Amino acid sequence: MQTEDSREITATVLDHARHPRNFGPLEGASGSARITGPCGDTMEFWVRLEDGRITRVAFTTDGCGSSLACGSMATCLAEGMPLKDAAAVGQKEILNALGGLPREIEHCALLAADTLQAACADLLEYGLRGPGRGGVGASWDDARGAGPEGGHVGRSGERLARGTSGGGPGCV
Ligand code: FES
Repeated sequence: MQTEDSREITATVLDHARHPRNFGPLEGASGSARITGPCGDTMEFWVRLEDGRITRVAFTTDGCGSSLACGSMATCLAEGMPLKDAAAVGQKEILNALGGLPREIEHCALLAADTLQAACADLLEYGLRGPGRGGVGASWDDARGAGPEGGHVGRSGERLARGTSGGGPGCV
């Protein structure tokens, strides 16, 4: 498939959009975050930490196919990483792993990266006190100022309606 800037939608993007990995929610998560981007799409991530590593990560989105692909790839990149590395997965890493996206939808990778980072920040801020919390809900502007050390506002246990139980095809 080709788009306006003539960059192709890669086979990897199509695969992750059609078969998203680790589609949540994730029970027993130690951190979570939900962000609505300027496009109006919302993404939510859950992370579970054991022995300093992310052992499970899941996401949901009500967004487009590319947001599904970006969320899926972000979970694949983060799983198994030490927390600080998972929190550093950015837009560039997600785009590289997908083989790129047309410029007009690169922001989907930014939404995925920001939501993953906010979930890791939530884990650092609250998760180490115990499981079963509501997680973070944030606007895009909040999230752009938030990272592992950043602040974010608003906490909510509300879940996206589209979420199903986790799992899915392997990440390769
Ligand atoms: Fe909104 Fe893809 S267009 S996240």
